[in-house]
Amino acid sequence: MTNPSANAASSLAPGPTSGTTPRAMLSVHDLHAGYGKTDVLHGLGFEVRAGECVALVGANGAGKSTTLKCICGLVPVRQGRIEFEGQRIDGLAGHDVVRRGITMCPEGRQVFPDMSVRENLEMGAHTRRDKAQVQDLEAMMDLFPVLRARSKQRAGTLSGGEQEMLAIARALMAKPRLCLFDEPSLGLAPKIVAEVEQTLARVKAMGVTVLLVEQNASMALRLADRAYVFEAGEIVLQGTGTELQAHPEVSKAYLGY
Ligand SMILES: Nc1ncnc2c1ncn2[C@@H]1O[C@H](COP(=O)(O)OP(=O)(O)O)[C@@H](O)[C@H]1O
Ligand SMILES: [Mg+2]
Repeated sequence: MTNPSANAASSLAPGPTSGTTPRAMLSVHDLHAGYGKTDVLHGLGFEVRAGECVALVGANGAGKSTTLKCICGLVPVRQGRIEFEGQRIDGLAGHDVVRRGITMCPEGRQVFPDMSVRENLEMGAHTRRDKAQVQDLEAMMDLFPVLRARSKQRAGTLSGGEQEMLAIARALMAKPRLCLFDEPSLGLAPKIVAEVEQTLARVKAMGVTVLLVEQNASMALRLADRAYVFEAGEIVLQGTGTELQAHPEVSKAYLGY
């Protein structure tokens, strides 16, 4: 096994001989990926421990979405490896990654506009084989009363904030142990952004481990136990949410003060 000290995750990985740190639920090592002839990720590494909320922050184009897509099997990994609960998942197809316990709440919500709210939620559970979907659907509507009120409505007719709630609830319907959120606050009014923040805090309190990508760094760093700062496909800083909020470069570049 390659020594993990070769990449940026090394300072967080206490085990000297193993890449599978017992406490790491997700570990990303020396990740390279790109599109066509262009490399976008240049050997980055980080980890997410069970129960944590970890944020990836950085400017537009830094490679945050590409990283999430690599984890979900939507963009091929060119070099390096991704492990989830001690097993390699790079190279798996998207639906197999979902079956392992990872779901993504994608950028731009991507609800199915012509399906009802209820049908969208049912789609979230399509990889599950257990019989508890109906109970979980009810539980999800308890958690998001607006979705119950609109359960028969076409998802495309919901407001942006309601669509975000639906996208979050749909991701939870897969019963993930790790949920990836790509820019959940993007394009929403400040009041709705505050609701999204509260919702993510509740998701975390439900015991779901969260990997959160946000250009809204102040929200991300408030929610995050730990965070990594991305620049041009590399991780340039890491620390606790509180440490990074107080970091002069982070506050100047991403927090606007
Ligand atoms: N499907 C694609 N084809 C080609 N280039 C892409 C594609 N998706 C993203 N990129 C490029 O990859 C780089 C990183 O993009 P992305 O991962 O979306 O960054 P972020 O999420 O941090 O804004 C950008 O330069 C972007 O233009
Ligand atoms: Mg993005």
